[in-house]
Amino acid sequence: MAQTVVITGFMGCGKSKIARELAARLDVTMVDLDERITARTGRTPAQLIDQDGEHAFRTIETDTLCDVLQSREAGVIALGGGAWIEQANRELIDEYSCASVWLDVPFEVCWARIEYAGEDRPLGRTKNQAAALYERRRPVYQLATFRIRVAGNEELDHLVSAIRSALSV
Ligand code: S3P
Repeated sequence: MAQTVVITGFMGCGKSKIARELAARLDVTMVDLDERITARTGRTPAQLIDQDGEHAFRTIETDTLCDVLQSREAGVIALGGGAWIEQANRELIDEYSCASVWLDVPFEVCWARIEYAGEDRPLGRTKNQAAALYERRRPVYQLATFRIRVAGNEELDHLVSAIRSALSV
């Protein structure tokens, strides 16, 4: 598969899990952008946002995405929930002719997973804050090439098949 696939969607939509499974099925390398940022800086995205602010984090995020795309190491990239929202990142993704897949998951499902995971998500600390962000971002996620509607109770296999059939891979 020549074209890199980027997986986007709101926090808790299942980007990393689905990207990992898709990459395994396609026998390509998966890169998780948030993990790559942590490996590069020694801090998690949440720590970077808390300590240095969101703007500083977004700069690192764009630099990291640029490096991953430039290296052509990844067949599938799981973005962080806000990466696709930045125009510079969408332009980069376009420049490298990637296919973009938006996992469109209802807010309540994302929120339940965010709460269950118990991880620090500085941009979604309260339900109201996360809900407002979700609504603000939806029109931008809609710019992705493919939209996969996810109810939240599907088998992983089913979702991966739906993505593969959308992408014809
Ligand atoms: C963010 C989502 C996080 C992480 C950072 C910012 C966002 O990734 O990149 O905390 O802006 O939505 P996940 O979507 O994997 O939680």
